[in-house]
Amino acid sequence: MTAKPASSAAGSSRIAGASAADPRVTDGQAIPRHVAVIMDGNGRWAKSRRLPRVAGHKAGMDAVRSVVDAAPKLGIEVLTLYAFSSENWKRPQEEVGFLFGLLKTYLLGEIAELDANDVRVQCIGDWRALPAELVTLLEGAITRTANNRGLTLVLALNYGSRDELVRAVRKAVATNGHDSHAIDADMIDAALDTAHLPAPDLIVRTSGEQRLSNFLLWQSAYAELVFTETLWPDFDGAALADACAAYARRERRYGGL
Ligand code: FPP
Repeated sequence: MTAKPASSAAGSSRIAGASAADPRVTDGQAIPRHVAVIMDGNGRWAKSRRLPRVAGHKAGMDAVRSVVDAAPKLGIEVLTLYAFSSENWKRPQEEVGFLFGLLKTYLLGEIAELDANDVRVQCIGDWRALPAELVTLLEGAITRTANNRGLTLVLALNYGSRDELVRAVRKAVATNGHDSHAIDADMIDAALDTAHLPAPDLIVRTSGEQRLSNFLLWQSAYAELVFTETLWPDFDGAALADACAAYARRERRYGGL
């Protein structure tokens, strides 16, 4: 990963004059500004090796390191990782505890390097309902990296899109004088956890499953979807580059011709 650039405003397009709907192009290839990933297949990866499920999650953390390193080199500005869904609480308590432990390990072990590499950490979802120790660590990581201008790394934690939408609609109604007719799409956009982020251009799901599983349902209205058979622990920066190449071959029309 490269060191902090002198100036690279996160959120600004690399193409002068490009709007959110314009494909950004480098070396003739369209680059997704925001890539969101459903990291799936950890359990199957472990099972195929006769290992406990948690071994798959542990290997999945290495894949996280690889894609976070590769993303800014590919020109990606925002990388959102679906790390813990609001439905994941249904898993055995030990697995949930292991996932929280991994996240803690990741934050403690990587925060200095993330900061040095100009990565800005953010969270979406009802992440403040996670264990207090984790919330404190997350708040620390967010504050420490808040002024960074390289990759924005968004961790979706205790995230569920329908829950986010319900919270957003309530917020939009509350801030608009309870007049439901005054509510429009922009107001809902502004009330979502992702209000400050560009919409995802590309959503990748690993492990062969082809569904969104309550992830960024509103925001993915015009996203390109790439499904790969690769299990998450086998995914890496090269696989992310392949997904970006698949994205570059798509024609985005946003409902037009
Ligand atoms: C889905 O695989 C994966 C998860 C629910 C957790 C994702 C967590 C990580 C990759 C670990 C570290 C994350 C960070 C951000 C440091 P699954 O268990 O549902 O797999 P399966 O469908 O094969 O059972």
